Order: sequence, then structure tokens, then C-alpha cells
Amino acid sequence: MVKVGIERIAFYTSHYALDLEALAKVRGVDVNKFFVGLGQQKMSVPPPDEDIVTMAANAASRALQSIDVSAIEMVLFATESGIDQSKAAGIYVHDLLGLPERCRVIELKQACYSATVALQLAIPFLRQHPEKKVLLIASDIARYGLGTSGESSQGSGAVAMVLSANPAIMAFDAEYGVVTENVMDFWRPNYSDSAFVEGKYSSKLYLNMLEKSWQQYRDLSGRGFDEHAYYCYHSPVPRLVEKAHQHLAKINQCVKLSEEALTAKIGHSLAYSRQIGNSYTASLYVGLTALLDLAEEDLSGKRVGFYSYGSGCVAEYFSGVIQPGYRDALDTQNHATMLAKRTALSYAEYEAFYSFPYPEDGSSCEIPEHQTGQFRLASIQDHKRIYAKVEKNISAG
Ligand code: HMG
Repeated sequence: MVKVGIERIAFYTSHYALDLEALAKVRGVDVNKFFVGLGQQKMSVPPPDEDIVTMAANAASRALQSIDVSAIEMVLFATESGIDQSKAAGIYVHDLLGLPERCRVIELKQACYSATVALQLAIPFLRQHPEKKVLLIASDIARYGLGTSGESSQGSGAVAMVLSANPAIMAFDAEYGVVTENVMDFWRPNYSDSAFVEGKYSSKLYLNMLEKSWQQYRDLSGRGFDEHAYYCYHSPVPRLVEKAHQHLAKINQCVKLSEEALTAKIGHSLAYSRQIGNSYTASLYVGLTALLDLAEEDLSGKRVGFYSYGSGCVAEYFSGVIQPGYRDALDTQNHATMLAKRTALSYAEYEAFYSFPYPEDGSSCEIPEHQTGQFRLASIQDHKRIYAKVEKNISAG
């Protein structure tokens, strides 16, 4: 069977971050609750002129470098931070990046899970049309109420992947385990711009669904716990991922892993998430990007286990094998520079970004210019979002 998977992968996050130490001070919380209890250090906060479209276009423009875009026949845009109830956000990206007219563009939603269904829909398409490519983008802004228990697990980011036959980075295995249950652990009604969440219940479900989807995957694939060199998890907070991996070790081998063994399997994949926070649909693939970028050993031929969880809920377990020569296809240096050059926000600046008054009555609004990537949201006019290419990045403001 022809191999199908990731030919290119690139990640983008906001230029601005709030150190959770600053949040802890204002909320009167011991900072170790965030640093140790959640395993989270910072969260990326988008400025008013950054949204899921600009983050997606910025990630995709990197992923598409050296790709012949005329072969892209489908753009799958996974998000739960939609900007419109009708129009797919991917159409703006399609335009900003000059993708071919002969192209399907669609937006997919199921909480943090939808990038994984996009992947599973693309795979049979590419087996049938091995000369074509699919652009899969996951882009999200995780947002809870100010002062709520979810606040410290906010974040933002986008991952863009070019999927194709005979992929340079990762080929996916055929077997998967998948579970759906109607639960109310996290949701965002149309009238609310931040999510409602039952935090403890959602964490319990995350672990229950891991067990169910893993067991299906293991039974179908015949692959055991030790037959995966590394693991990537959807990462709402890194501490929950550590608990999840311990849970897999316990149900498979009746052991508690040492800190060293745990770090060896999931440490690299959590490194970017600790710095950017939850990026919902993108989070699992941010984890893969971090693993590929940061592992010192050559990962060629190594199998990775993936756990995708979207509240509400759908969970899926699947796997893939890293391809020889994968390093030549990565954007590692760009990711390192982007994270190193972020601007630290004060608490007051964070709250000003969070509370930016976008018009809701059709009035026009020029959006103040901040540091972004190549694309920004320039204005809102006649109920329309106007995006612009940034000629020259201004300094942080
Ligand atoms: P919380 O109320 O912030 O934290 O909730 P907590 O009180 O449970 O404390 C967290 C840990 O810190 C505890 O350890 C404390 O003991 C420890 P644990 O019992 O878990 O081992 N702690 C300390 N440690 C060291 N020093 C201290 C200290 N103080 C306390 N001084 C929660 C955390 C993640 C629930 C919250 O942030 C939340 O509700 N977040 C949003 C929902 C969420 O992320 N759920 C996770 C699973 S659901 C999911 O992944 C889907 C999602 O991504 C959405 C989607 O699918 O679209 C969310």
C-alpha cells in the first residue's frame, strides 16, 4: 500500500506571551500551582490583529515553502475558534496564499479533535489520488473567562501540514481506535466568546477516553505499549499529559514510570506546549512538531503513538512512522527564533488584548498594528474582516 502522511509541517504562535508568574501574582495564587501543578510556564496571547486566519496563513506560508502549490487540491481547516457561522476560514487563507482555483476548502469542527478527522479524511483521498496534495491547517485561540480556573490553560497557535503520498516526514499506520460519547465537559454556545468547562470532569474523561481508544487501537494493530518509541498527546495542560502517559503504562504494564522514563517518551513533545499553552485543534500536532524539532537522536524509522481528544467528546488513538531524511523537511530554526523573540506581556497588556472591543454592530474599525507574522487582520468594515499582508514587521507595541 502506498505510504501517506506528512510532507511538510510548520507551526506558528502569537508574538506575545504572558508568563504565568505574572498571572499568579495578580490572582493571588502560588506560582507553583501553574509551573508544577499544571506544568505550564507561559501562554501565547494573540494581539487584536491576530486571529485563526492570520495564524493559519503564517503557519501555512512556511509549510508551503518549496511545495508546488498547483498540486494542492484540498484545504482542510480545523478550528473551534470560528470567525463566521457560514464561510470557511480556510477560504481567506486560500486567497492570502494564492492557492489554485481548482481546490476544495472546508472548515471542520469537533472541539480539539477536528484536525485528526481531517487527517483521516485526507488519507484515503491521497491513496486514490497520489499525485495530489492536501493542506491541513489547525488553528485556535484557547479562551476562558478572566479569573476562572481555566484561565491559566489558555494559549494560541496554528500548525499547517502538507499531506501527500510518499511523505518526507511521517507515514501514518492504517489502524486506529475511535470513541464518541455525548458529554458536557467543555462547550461554547454561540452567544459566548469564551468556553464553559467542567475542568475536573473533562480531565477524567480525557483519561477514560484514552483508555478506550488505546485498547481498540492496540487490539486492531497488535502493537503493544513498548512498540512506540515516542508519544504525542493533545495537551490542554502538560501535567494531564504526564498523568495520561502514566495511566497507559499502568494499564499495559502495571508500572509507574520514573520521571526519567516519562521525560524520555513525552518530554520533547511537551516542550512547545509548556511555552504557548493550549492550542486546541493544533495542540497534538504542536507536540509532534516539537518532538521532530527537538529530539537529538535520529528519529528515522521510529513509531509515534498519538492521542487526540476533543471535548464533547470524540477521542482517537493512532500512530505513524517517522521517515528517513525527515530533518531536511523541518522548519526547526524558524520555530526556535519565533519562540525566543516573543514579547512578554504585563498583566494589564494581557487584559487589554483579551478585552479588545471588536465591533458587533456592523460599525467599521481599524485594528491597531502589533507585531505579527506576514499576515494580519487590518480592519472590520461592513461586517467583513479585511486581512492584509505585512510589508515590514513593526517593533512590538
Ligand atoms: P485548576 O482548578 O486550575 O487546578 O484546574 P487544581 O486545583 O486541580 O490544581 C492542579 C494541580 O496543581 C493539582 O494537582 C494540585 O494539587 C496542584 P493534581 O491533583 O492534579 O495532581 N497544585 C500545586 N502544585 C504545586 N504547588 C502548588 C500547588 N497548588 C496546587 N502550590 C484544570 C486545572 C486543567 C482542570 C483547569 O485549568 C481547567 O479547567 N482547564 C480547562 C479544561 C481542561 O483543560 N481540561 C483538560 C481535559 S479536556 C481537554 O483536553 C479538551 C480541551 O482542550 C477543549 C477541547 O477539546 O476543545 C480543554
